[in-house]
Amino acid sequence: MPLLAIETTCDETAAAVVTRGREVLSSVVASQEQLHARWRGVVPELASRAHVERIIPVIDEAVARAGITRGEIEAVGVAVRPGLVGSLLVGLAAAKGIAATLRIPIVGYDHIAAHLYACRLAHGEAMSYPCVGLVASGGHTTLFHVRDPLTLERLGGTIDDAAGEAFDKAATILGLGYPGGPEIERAARAGDPRSHRLPRPLRSDHDRLDLSFSGLKTALRYLVRPPGAPADTPPPEGRARADLAAAFQQAVVDSIVAKVDLALEKTSCRTVAVGGGVAANTLLRESLTDLGRRRGAAVLVPPLSLCTDNAAMGAIAWERLERGDDDGLTLDVRPGTDRTRRA
Ligand code: KG4
Ligand code: ZN
Repeated sequence: MPLLAIETTCDETAAAVVTRGREVLSSVVASQEQLHARWRGVVPELASRAHVERIIPVIDEAVARAGITRGEIEAVGVAVRPGLVGSLLVGLAAAKGIAATLRIPIVGYDHIAAHLYACRLAHGEAMSYPCVGLVASGGHTTLFHVRDPLTLERLGGTIDDAAGEAFDKAATILGLGYPGGPEIERAARAGDPRSHRLPRPLRSDHDRLDLSFSGLKTALRYLVRPPGAPADTPPPEGRARADLAAAFQQAVVDSIVAKVDLALEKTSCRTVAVGGGVAANTLLRESLTDLGRRRGAAVLVPPLSLCTDNAAMGAIAWERLERGDDDGLTLDVRPGTDRTRRA
């Protein structure tokens, strides 16, 4: 009997059906990328309204693709934190409706812990605990000491922009589309990462596992339009744009890799699990794999479909259901983040 997982933390409406043996029978993701593209960022109110329209069709499709009926669902898992409050509430309301009508258990799970659990889904026992966890997405860039699937101790993270947010803003500065990560990655292929000297803030601070990307974004901004230049200066094109994209991407990746290296040293862990949309970045994957080779550590990255937001990673709900948890119908959302996560 399978679990239905529901995920509406930000701008993806997602549902998945996962067996107790962690086999993903179906995973459906309705992206709102097109809806938010013209605003170059997620508009919370638009996101919640789109979730309302899509949540039931997405759940129905996940159930149908799994080859089961609604009545065969054994439990419901729902991402209840962190995220946009309106978006989270839509997923929770749908989850509660199903749990109430079918009289089955409902458990809330942490979206960030789920991003790292995607590694467990993809790599099984090779993802051993404790390990270092890196979640890099549009809303988060955080390093954890992961004790077990449900216990994440925060080691450090960005003190300003998230890595994905930095990619998105840099893409706007360079006149590229949204979401910015894939656009910058594509443009960077034709560029030279050594063409510009961009800052790597906090990289040489060996006492802190924190990161910062807003100064890097400003540095890029000034390269494109120096102080005093007219406000309507057009964004660069061709080789000039490719060089800036490559230098920017390299700076973000260098900053992240340096802190993962430090986290491995401080925790003595031999495994790194990576999650979040930015983990789709090829340079980041390759650079972390190189780091792992140098440090004798296994670096585990899920396939692309499990990096960006999805509900298959809601398989983490089984970790709670298996110990008998049931949050019941008083379950509520917790939009903010906590320093130590206990799901
Ligand atoms: O995890 P995710 O799908 O949603 C959030 O929870 O934020 O991550 C989306 C973020 C966006 O900021 C996007 O620009 C970034 O991940 N991203 C990438 C790449 N693909 C997506 N960043 C760098 N390189 C990529 N290939
Ligand atoms: Zn996410």
